[in-house]
Amino acid sequence: MTKHKVTKAIFPVAGLGTRFLPATKSIPKEIMTLVDRPLIQYAIDEARAAGIEEFIFVTSRGKSALEDYFDRAPELESVLTRDGKEHLLAILKQTNMESGAIAYVRQHKALGLGHAVWCARRLIGDEPFAVMLPDDVIAAEKPCLQQMIEAYEDIGGCMVAAMEVAPAKASSYGVLDIDKDMGALVSVKGMVEKPKAAEAPSNLAVIGRYILTPSVLTNLNRMKEGAGGEIQLTDAIAEEIGTSNTVYGYRFRGQRYDCGSKAGFLQATVAFGLARDELSAEFSEYLHHMMAQQKAAQ
Ligand code: UTP
Repeated sequence: MTKHKVTKAIFPVAGLGTRFLPATKSIPKEIMTLVDRPLIQYAIDEARAAGIEEFIFVTSRGKSALEDYFDRAPELESVLTRDGKEHLLAILKQTNMESGAIAYVRQHKALGLGHAVWCARRLIGDEPFAVMLPDDVIAAEKPCLQQMIEAYEDIGGCMVAAMEVAPAKASSYGVLDIDKDMGALVSVKGMVEKPKAAEAPSNLAVIGRYILTPSVLTNLNRMKEGAGGEIQLTDAIAEEIGTSNTVYGYRFRGQRYDCGSKAGFLQATVAFGLARDELSAEFSEYLHHMMAQQKAAQ
């Protein structure tokens, strides 16, 4: 088994974001802000911590705010320099990407996550790569992708981040059919996208972090429609099962927030707000006050 270092990541951000309408009519979902940082910044920081050097965005019409976000902002920089606001300059610098480190490809129609990943195939070549969905935000001591890359360096194959979910929720996810359970890692004998609760093969669901081999891109060439009439990434990964390319689920350590849903986004806002030193005391007092008022009103 040949293993290569994982240095490229694909960020599929071409979805329509309909669950956040009307906001997403003009604001890309990935630019929506948790405390003071857009979702995409959390994903980029996680990727950098895991050693990713090339960042490939699959975008679509209406996502120019996202491209602008990574550009330099000369006017802002000069004002902050003039005013001696070094701290804010340092924050601003985190958003700058090295020339050539970032690439954009266009998905002309939202045909599904699998199709979005396939759109980046020419930039991947013959290497393993990561896929990160920025609307899955993961709070973890060691960033999730870094945990996965360390496991991948030991074992190879294809790897998906996995999380236990209640059976009633399985129909929102790709679900793993487990072959061998080895603790953090499970080998997989099947994957089902959005199964009915009664048909879910386990309670282990796939969330938005993947390490994949180029053969998955070859599988996507067939453009097979799956659940919801979309070209599903899960199906293309499942095609690897039974080949020499073992598929693993990885139970990461951390808390995942589904920021693609309103409830998940609000939960993340509370958790990340409370985790900030400069906000936690005031914010927590306010939350207690709100809860007390709500109880009193019941
Ligand atoms: P979602 O399933 O959350 O879809 O996509 P969405 O369009 O973003 O949001 P809703 O469901 O309409 O509210 C998961 C990820 O896959 C990307 C999305 O941008 C998101 O990061 N995606 C999805 C694409 O890039 N292209 C697609 O055709 C579909």
